[in-house]
Amino acid sequence: MSAPVGLYLKNLWYVAFYGGELKKGKLLPKEVLGEKVVFGRTNDNEVFALKDNCPHRGVPLSCGWFDGNRIQCCYHGWEFDRMGVCINIPALAPETNIQVNKIKAPTYPCREINGVIFIYMPDKKLSDQAVLNDLPDLLLAPDKAFKHVERVVLPCNIDHAVIGLIDPAHVTFVHQSWFWRSKKSLRIKEKHFEPEGLGFKMARHTPSSNSKGYKILKGGTSTEITFEIPGFRREHIKIGEDNEIISITTLTPLNETETELNQFFYTTLSVANMLWWPLRKLGRTFIGQDLGIFRKLKAGLENDPKLLLVGEPDAQARWYYELKKQWIKAQEENTPFVNTLKHQTLHWIT
Ligand code: FES
Ligand SMILES: [Fe+2]
Repeated sequence: MSAPVGLYLKNLWYVAFYGGELKKGKLLPKEVLGEKVVFGRTNDNEVFALKDNCPHRGVPLSCGWFDGNRIQCCYHGWEFDRMGVCINIPALAPETNIQVNKIKAPTYPCREINGVIFIYMPDKKLSDQAVLNDLPDLLLAPDKAFKHVERVVLPCNIDHAVIGLIDPAHVTFVHQSWFWRSKKSLRIKEKHFEPEGLGFKMARHTPSSNSKGYKILKGGTSTEITFEIPGFRREHIKIGEDNEIISITTLTPLNETETELNQFFYTTLSVANMLWWPLRKLGRTFIGQDLGIFRKLKAGLENDPKLLLVGEPDAQARWYYELKKQWIKAQEENTPFVNTLKHQTLHWIT
């Protein structure tokens, strides 16, 4: 079954795993954009991604054996290297003239940066084609790594997941708690946006004074929030002259009804690194609140309701659909992506 037209964006990078989840000599299967993929890490620390089917009779390669060097299918024992090239067919008698290395399991481009493993999802048939587009900018030097806060599967498609991620108006109702903000402290917000890369940026500003979470960060705090398709939100907080926090939320469609959310965190603040476990718990509480509302949304959507996007609080959701439209057009026409968004100021009450 293929996904509805325009649901998935191709020729883009998606987060597959937090690097620490994929150990040397291990295979991990995962569905990405409805495609079954097997990921692995070799003994020399190279990550790779193959279509999760043996080219012989289609058994998942992830059901086989991997010694950190060769993947062996569990059906007839064919062996493959990390590039998917067949290197041995055990049942072939020695004098045969079959060139086994002509047989290949399709591969996906796969990279690990700053402790995050990405997979590139091409729109054409897999053929080790060139990667057309860059990885998102994680703002970190190559030798720095993110910490992993959480991974959850939201029970909805990528569009609902993205809208939930960039929607300002749910914060008051879904994330109300003593440590963040309460319904009693509502204020009108004015935020300036500009187009940026494959999305838009909320210009650098001083965070809301009604968010207690920010209040503890003394010393001239400012934040800049970027969203880019397919589902990448980056918040860069500067604290004083020397310190920063980078918080990244990524969305990867697993299939039409499930989207994986990953949250990554980096900071130069030694106090935040010391308080990592309570901070992580706080992050997980937030994500748990979103997961809770997405479960309710799933139940609601089963009734096939008509949906609305209304006013400035929903403007970013409309921009998301516009970005998707432009991306799909660029891929179909083989032309460069054009970001058609404009500088704009939005207002909402949260
Ligand atoms: S199906 Fe994999 S070796 Fe036959
Ligand atoms: Fe949320």
